[in-house]
Amino acid sequence: MSKEKILVIGANGQIGTALTQSLRQKYGTANVIASDLNTPLRSVIGIFEKLDVLDIERLRAIVLKYGINQIYHLAAILSAKGEQNPRQTWDVNMNALWNVLEIARQEHISKVYYPSTIAVFGPQTPKENCPQFTTMHPSTIYGISKQAGEQLCEYYFRRFGLDVRSLRYPGIISHESLPGGGTTDYAVDIFYKAVDGLAYECFLSQNTRLPMMYIDDAIRATIELMEAPKEKIKNRYGYNLQGVSFSPTDLAAEIQKQLPNFSISYKPDFRQAIADSWVCSLDDSAAKEDWGWEAKFDLARICTEMLTNLQARKSDRHNEYNEMTFL
Ligand code: NAD
Ligand code: SER
Repeated sequence: MSKEKILVIGANGQIGTALTQSLRQKYGTANVIASDLNTPLRSVIGIFEKLDVLDIERLRAIVLKYGINQIYHLAAILSAKGEQNPRQTWDVNMNALWNVLEIARQEHISKVYYPSTIAVFGPQTPKENCPQFTTMHPSTIYGISKQAGEQLCEYYFRRFGLDVRSLRYPGIISHESLPGGGTTDYAVDIFYKAVDGLAYECFLSQNTRLPMMYIDDAIRATIELMEAPKEKIKNRYGYNLQGVSFSPTDLAAEIQKQLPNFSISYKPDFRQAIADSWVCSLDDSAAKEDWGWEAKFDLARICTEMLTNLQARKSDRHNEYNEMTFL
């Protein structure tokens, strides 16, 4: 019987959907409470609580109701959506984190997970093999808020001893859950078009190389980090995490190996400047050395997984896809 009682905040999102499933498999469905602004579109077995994490007393009530001792705080507004409403993005990304850290401190939560991102880096950061500690200066409100969030997490660890752990995710590629408004979303959308026999118009230019990761690797990294012994966690900012780096041209060429008639064209929009401000690849040796991180999915394997799974789910995925705005 698991001693853990876990709250996932932002559980309906691209990462939250998969993470909640994996945590439930590991710790038992009854021990993992999903929460988000609205009830999920697809019904899932398990407890769900409506929560606007900006409401600190509602958050406290849920923590006390279930005897929560771990929080995975995923709720955020991502890079592309964030530029459409910078003030709201700052409020959600920062004030929600304050609430989570304060409740964790006051209610003696044993561990908190905070996802960071490649968006914490900026135009002055070294583009290749970006070091763990380096020049940052992010240029999006999302990156600025996430970088401040990393600092706040480290502050709560140093000042209050709160066991807060963090990863800098690359762009995440998944087939079960759709992305929520990021600059890397093209690398999911492209598979939907390819499987449906449609051409894809990419909002990034052909040679824009970015760090990406398959969802299974991202979820495994998250759980491995959270389960690592405390003394192994030497970095309370986000750990760099490298999966695979590729450009839209590389991705299209890999898809064409399986679907030779697939075609891509390029029409960069405002997301190009965001992508140009980010790094191309990361040095994740600290994650490897401290808690044994290792990526498993290369580009060929990601393509096979995405095409096979989207093909298999062709009939049941259309409604959710149509509700999705890839901005
Ligand atoms: P998403 O947009 O798919 O999901 C975010 C979820 O948070 C949504 O379900 C939304 O309803 C919820 N939410 C927003 N405001 C809320 C509030 N006030 N209270 C409660 N819930 C709220 O995002 P995601 O891709 O699943 O990302 C999860 C986390 O991982 C984020 O913190 C993001 O910064 C980080 N991240 C994601 C990626 C990626 O490529 N997906 C990459 C790097 C970092
Ligand atoms: N995938 C995210 C985005 O594009 C990076 O955090 O916003």
